[in-house]
Order: sequence, then C-alpha cells, then structure tokens
Amino acid sequence: MLRDIANVLISEERIRDRVHAIGADLAGEFSRIEEDESSLVLMPVMTGAMVFAADLIRQLPFKLKLELVAVSSYPGKSMASKGAMMASDLPKDLEGKHVLIIDDILDSGSTIAVLKSLIEEQNPASVKVCVLLEKIRKDGPPIAKADYVGFEIPDEFVVGYGLDYDGYYRNHPEIVTLHEDAL
Ligand code: IMP
Ligand code: MG
Repeated sequence: MLRDIANVLISEERIRDRVHAIGADLAGEFSRIEEDESSLVLMPVMTGAMVFAADLIRQLPFKLKLELVAVSSYPGKSMASKGAMMASDLPKDLEGKHVLIIDDILDSGSTIAVLKSLIEEQNPASVKVCVLLEKIRKDGPPIAKADYVGFEIPDEFVVGYGLDYDGYYRNHPEIVTLHEDAL
C-alpha cells in the first residue's frame, strides 16, 4: 500500500488537531442551540465519513443520535462524478430535529445537495453540513455548501482517513494522493 502513495497532503497530526478544533466549534454551536439535546441527529455518509465521524463524535459530549446514510456517487472505477443518489433509506423522524450531515469530502456537491433536500422535506429544526475536505474545483464552485470544512484541498483525487479508491486505502491514516499506476 505505501508504495502506491505519491504525496502526503495532510498528516495524521494535522488531521487530529483540526478534528479537535471542529469538534470544539460544533460543541459551542450545539450548546447554544440546544436546550433539548435529544433533538440532535448526526448523519455520517457511508462509507467515506466513517473514520472522520468516529473521531468527531467523541469530541461531542451531548445526548445525540447517529443515523448512517448511504449515497452512491462514484460507481465502479470511474473517477468522474456521475451525480448522486440515495443508496439507503433516510430516517423518517427528522421533523423538529437538528441534523448535522457529516461527509468526507465536498466535490461537486451533488451528494450533499441530494441529502439536504430530502432531509428538508421532513421539516427539521436545522440542517448543517460538516466535511473534512473541500476540493477547490477547476470547473467552478460546488452546488452545495458546507458549514464546517476541515481543509481545502486542490482538485486532485485523494485517499485515506476514510476516503477510498475503488474501495481501498480507507484505512490509511493520512490524506494522500496516489501514483498514476495505482489508479
Ligand atoms: P460530490 O457528490 O461530487 O460532492 O462527491 C462527494 C463524494 O464523492 C464523496 O462523498 C466521496 O465519496 C467521493 N469523492 C469525491 N472526491 C473524492 C476523492 O478525491 N477521493 C475519494 N472520494 C472522493
Ligand atoms: Mg461519499
């Protein structure tokens, strides 16, 4: 696996520090908006957000629920976004809840746009978006915005810390690019 890595974009230490900082921001926001903690719903987008979400939720000392959702956006080996569609059911009891979507990376924004509009149909109290990475795309801004962004990265394909290429490299602890011949 290590020989497939071209560049380390973000080290383990920088990820750890940033996740702590985002956790502190979120904790501040949650404690302001929340008299009734039990209305907090954190929604990690599988599978890419699992590592980030696992680290982030342990910074949040609130009574909250975790609801996993799946959205598919990179079918097969293709690296071009084909748009996004739900690949799991959405929880049906989001009315009046404060929902935080957690994803690994904001690229075209179609994953977040699809999820957000479906959540909003249920009249939640709020919907916020937290992503570890946002790609600064060559072909313009994403169609959805994130309220919390860990790092902005250049328009390159990255893996590690939950992000995959064809299902692999999610367990690598840093954010890295791959050599051409690994792709
Ligand atoms: P979007 O719908 O175009 O914003 O794409 C977001 C989804 O595409 C993310 O949840 C990732 O699963 C995947 N994705 C986008 N860019 C990358 C990347 O550089 N590496 C791995 N997965 C990516
Ligand atoms: Mg994803």
